[in-house]
Amino acid sequence: MALRQRLLRKKPIEAPQETSLHRCLGALDLVLLGIGAIIGTGIFVLTGIAAANQAGPALVLSFVVAGVACGAAALAYAELAASLGGCGSAYGYSYTAFGEIFAWLIGWILVLEYGVAVAAVATGWSGYFGNALHVVGLTLPEALTRPPAAGGIADVPALGIVLTLMALVAYGVRESARVNAAMVFVKLATIAVFIGVAAFHVEPANWTPFMPYGWIHVDADGSKTGILAGASIVFFAYIGFDAVSTAAEEARDPQRDLPIGIIGSLIVCTVLYIVVSALLTGIVPYTRLDVSSPVAFALHEIGVDWASGLVAGGAIAGITTVMLVLYYGLTRIVFAMARDGLMPPALARVNPRTRTPLRVIVLCGIVIAALAGFVPLNELAELVNFGTLSAFVMVCVGVVVMRRNHPDLPRPFRTPLYPLVPVVGALSCAALMVFLPQATWSRFALWLGAGLAFYALYSCRHSRLAAP
Ligand code: ALA
Repeated sequence: MALRQRLLRKKPIEAPQETSLHRCLGALDLVLLGIGAIIGTGIFVLTGIAAANQAGPALVLSFVVAGVACGAAALAYAELAASLGGCGSAYGYSYTAFGEIFAWLIGWILVLEYGVAVAAVATGWSGYFGNALHVVGLTLPEALTRPPAAGGIADVPALGIVLTLMALVAYGVRESARVNAAMVFVKLATIAVFIGVAAFHVEPANWTPFMPYGWIHVDADGSKTGILAGASIVFFAYIGFDAVSTAAEEARDPQRDLPIGIIGSLIVCTVLYIVVSALLTGIVPYTRLDVSSPVAFALHEIGVDWASGLVAGGAIAGITTVMLVLYYGLTRIVFAMARDGLMPPALARVNPRTRTPLRVIVLCGIVIAALAGFVPLNELAELVNFGTLSAFVMVCVGVVVMRRNHPDLPRPFRTPLYPLVPVVGALSCAALMVFLPQATWSRFALWLGAGLAFYALYSCRHSRLAAP
């Protein structure tokens, strides 16, 4: 009963028309949102880097390991989404399972995850966009493609794409979902072309040695290689299925459709990743894949230039949807936190015409565009993996806590093999965090410190739900 009261109290307290979103997304929209957020730089960029430097042809096993961790987390997300539907995202689940301070921290971490991810992916997008311009004979001045710290003025394409997406997300969720669906179709077609062409050019000799760095190897300088280190890097490729859960308040039937969206999109992407990574290392020796666009490069290497150009174009569409959906997810998390009083209430307003949280969208857009345009983000990108992994650990533990504390809560979807799956999910995600560099741990600790300070100075005094 206490849980029900808390869930009820999580509903908007005043002016519902100003704080409620438009319920218009169905199961297919959610699966496409998931695929939109998941397939992007991970497959189009990181595969080559991880194969060449971490895993060799055993990259396919890195994808399997990361996929198992994400699969367990996805099942945990699905259970919480089905039982708590209306208060979406790991932030909402943590509120119910652990209480406000943990929820705040997870929300704060998700803001970092999504915000830095969009900015970092925008930088990758800018690189692909520059290549595409080059193909049609245009070249942007270098000063307009680099942030000041890298000798330029600003990364204008990165800044421009974020502001363009800001306009789209502000315009409406229905419209954003339509644009996403169209571009997801393009990227799936692109991957199908790669698979169709590469399947006929595999040289089995390229798969030998299969595990050149073994499972785990620590070099004299402390850097880690091997399948597990590769898994902690390609984990980035799976990030995004959790963004489906942020759409809970815009889903027509969240308790039924969110589990479909989360698990459906993850299954499709896992299968594609395993097939693509096996083929990629089968058509070109892994040592040559350390390039910025390995999938297009590999097709060029085997002499199929038309497919190489096509993949480069499809990658631009694919990377755009990642930014679109993660940006969308970020705005919904900040919106939920503001509506609960943990962030300034001005951010919890829904524009009556667009039925989107316009202020949050504009604020997030400006901050991310500034990050993408003016800050070199290479090293910060690993923070995204760290933040996501910690959110996944919390969601897996959340399933166990909710089953113990609220055994009678209706659960339309139940994690199979309980408690094995959430325990494996929590442990494997925690283990992947261990393989990330020490500097990432320190930066993450700084971000958490800033979050705790914000909570102490503002959020705990303005919280609506903690009030008696
Ligand atoms: N999974 C997303 C990507 O690979 C973040 O770009």
